Amino acid sequence: MNIYVDSKMSDQSRRKALYEGAVFSYSPGPSAIELCRFAQSLIEEAFGALDPLRVHESIPAEKCAEILSSLKPQFIHHPKSKESIQGILRELGCDLEKTYFDVPRMRTAFPNDYLNSGIAYAFHPHRDTWYSAPFCQINWWMPIYDVTPDNCMAFHPHYWNRRIKNGSDRFNYHRWNAESRYSAAQHVKGDSRVQPRAEEEIELEPQVRMICNIGGAYLFSAAQLHSTVPNTSGMTRYSIDFRTVHLDDVIGRIGASNVDSACTGTAMGDYLRGTDLSHLPEEAVALYRDATESEYSVLSDHAASR
Ligand SMILES: [Fe+2]
Repeated sequence: MNIYVDSKMSDQSRRKALYEGAVFSYSPGPSAIELCRFAQSLIEEAFGALDPLRVHESIPAEKCAEILSSLKPQFIHHPKSKESIQGILRELGCDLEKTYFDVPRMRTAFPNDYLNSGIAYAFHPHRDTWYSAPFCQINWWMPIYDVTPDNCMAFHPHYWNRRIKNGSDRFNYHRWNAESRYSAAQHVKGDSRVQPRAEEEIELEPQVRMICNIGGAYLFSAAQLHSTVPNTSGMTRYSIDFRTVHLDDVIGRIGASNVDSACTGTAMGDYLRGTDLSHLPEEAVALYRDATESEYSVLSDHAASR
């Protein structure tokens, strides 16, 4: 795996390298720091007097899940979050006219088995492409507070070109949205939702753990196998991730190779343009549709009305 640190490469060359399995790491820039500070302020407001890194020591998991279930959407949908993402993209050389992003997610990884399902889902080794991410999707990840090797995320680069038997053929993005996402906060201990997993033993080693500073970001392809490191640090990890696609690659169907993803549906309708937050042109999204979206639209409407 090639790891580029503070590369000055153009966005086009960077995307090409990402599609070939490289990872890019960047030092904290002004907008990334701003986004992390904003996230910290929401977290600290939500947990009041508690130390956010040690909430697991003082409140029950159910209470924590309840707090997260309003904290996380607040961050995800806040206009400030989107503005900071636009700033990050601009500072790192993306063309905002052609770069589309989805709303940033706030993730938590709690120590041991305190809370690792539903709203704080602990990610087993997976490729985002098993979950209907397009092969031109680029994932961006940054820590909100300092991370250590014992509470970060890991890459498993030896699987880049290696097929893994997995359950992605039973995953449909539109069904997932309709049936599952709205109820994430209800899954405190144990998660019954069907998620694509490896269906063979995964060799977790060798693995790469990137430890960056607050607001330091790294970028990787949606086809890269990655997982949540079991948190043995005694402290909660808070991180932000979001994804981007570039219009030229969407239209040209350029991206990483499909080694083993067989899911249906597409996340292509989720991304917003860097300039005016408009969705991708319909003709671009249509290239990725497989007719399953209409199958679940009734369910989707029903879920949205709850
Ligand atoms: Fe992921």
